[in-house]
Amino acid sequence: MNPNLLQNFIQLIADYTGLHIREQDYDSLCKKIFVRIKSLKLSSPEQYYQLLAGQNKTSKDEWEKLIILLTVTETYFFRDRGQLGLLKNVILPEIIKSKMASKEKKIKIWSAGCSTGEEAYSLAIMVQELIPDWQEWDILILGTDINEVALTKAKQGVYSNWSFRLIDRQIQKNYFYEFQGEWQVEEQVKKIVKFGNINLVQDGFPSYIDLILCRNVFIYFEAKHISLVMQKFYNSLLKGGYLMTGHAELYGQPLGKFKVKVLSESLVYQRGQDEQYENYLADSLPIFTDKRMANEKSLEYSLINSISERKISTYYSICDDANKQALLDLKQKFYQDKKHEIAREVTQKNRDLQSSQSDKLLLEAAELFAVKAYTDAIRKAEDFLSLNPKNFRVYNLLAQLYANLGKYERATFYCNQAIEINSASVEPFYLLVNIAEEQGDIEGAKILLKRVIYLDPQEIPAYIELGSLYAAEKNILRAKKMKNIALELLKKLPVDDIIKYKGGIKVSELIEYLEADT
Ligand SMILES: C[S@@+](CC[C@H](N)C(=O)[O-])C[C@H]1O[C@@H](n2cnc3c(N)ncnc32)[C@H](O)[C@@H]1O
Repeated sequence: MNPNLLQNFIQLIADYTGLHIREQDYDSLCKKIFVRIKSLKLSSPEQYYQLLAGQNKTSKDEWEKLIILLTVTETYFFRDRGQLGLLKNVILPEIIKSKMASKEKKIKIWSAGCSTGEEAYSLAIMVQELIPDWQEWDILILGTDINEVALTKAKQGVYSNWSFRLIDRQIQKNYFYEFQGEWQVEEQVKKIVKFGNINLVQDGFPSYIDLILCRNVFIYFEAKHISLVMQKFYNSLLKGGYLMTGHAELYGQPLGKFKVKVLSESLVYQRGQDEQYENYLADSLPIFTDKRMANEKSLEYSLINSISERKISTYYSICDDANKQALLDLKQKFYQDKKHEIAREVTQKNRDLQSSQSDKLLLEAAELFAVKAYTDAIRKAEDFLSLNPKNFRVYNLLAQLYANLGKYERATFYCNQAIEINSASVEPFYLLVNIAEEQGDIEGAKILLKRVIYLDPQEIPAYIELGSLYAAEKNILRAKKMKNIALELLKKLPVDDIIKYKGGIKVSELIEYLEADT
């Protein structure tokens, strides 16, 4: 693509979403743009640019589709134990105590950039655990995101075991029930959580909030948009209200009027107690009734933009010496983690988009797969296949697509085709394992997993899966043996390496998960 036009797209995306496209992601961005151009049957990237820049219903609809390709939605329940511990032991008890003292039994918490909802539900569960008579309170946990596919999943509240990888099993049992092999959030939790679409850069914000969590969102943002959103967050909070971001996400950013609190597990940002309350948005702002929201958005937006730039202060000018050292330690500890996490999330998102330009059809199929348009994806993949017979990647993709549609016979057929081309690859074997498990063929699944281990004795996920199968049939000895081999192999790896287990997990996280699973 013409470099000037590419820069225009990058600017347009930043202005609309706040997202910063890094230079190493330019190729991937071009591919995504071309996927949309092809899908819309447009004749040039210029035409697509005009469409996006249009500020009308058609452009809004198209942004919705492009955003699904641009955003990284990785999340899970009770993510980051340190921060969640801080919320449970310090921040939430402080909020609850002050509400009780003022006899105002009302709490409003906002998970901004909530993705598929795990963070919002985790907060709801924590609040219900901390307030025994929560039914007597007016409690609202808002979950908002820009990605409609993620929000649909959040509203459904049905999750696979993988979302629970670091959750206390008792909490899972108390607040979820099994539903067709997955886990459905209990109604009592659901009823205090509401989800809606808020674009942090473009839209108006809700107000009178006690606590905002906006974690793992700013890592993808341009600095200038972080400042804008911070200012809006500030105005959304009640006096004394808290903002928690991911670790090191605001490092080097102007914090406006926020005060920084350095606590053992993380930094948190607070709106001062003694300031003039400046919140001009009505509490009753109907952010979740879409029609009214659409009408009021532009008004709110112009109000928000009219706030003048606040005095810029940095961590260092706010902190005393003791806190400065703590700040440095925290920065060192978390900054490294964050870099790896970004790399992992971005790599995962782009995994299916790494094909060369000539593989557009396959790329489109992978994109359709990502947005769960399985039937359309199959059509594209089969088109690709007719042009490129005997291609491992497409057989593998077709196998996954058919498996997701529950068409196991076709899926098995394509797995076997893939194996025929590359018998050393473990990927199709893992899919066959899933199919065998889905069909209740546990013996078959075990044989396949042993085959994976035979192909590659370092395949940690195979030991873990095999261990789970043994555990399910109460063969504790073998289950333990498999887990121990997995742990032994894991402990030889750098803690930040990513293991291809259920979409990708850091070695340290997987060790924690296995060691916690007794
Ligand atoms: C990695 S997820 C974080 C989920 C959760 N907060 C957590 O920490 O596990 C980042 C989310 O931010 C959302 N996001 C990105 N840009 C946004 C914007 N401008 N407005 C609202 N949400 C946005 C993405 O759609 C994505 O779901």
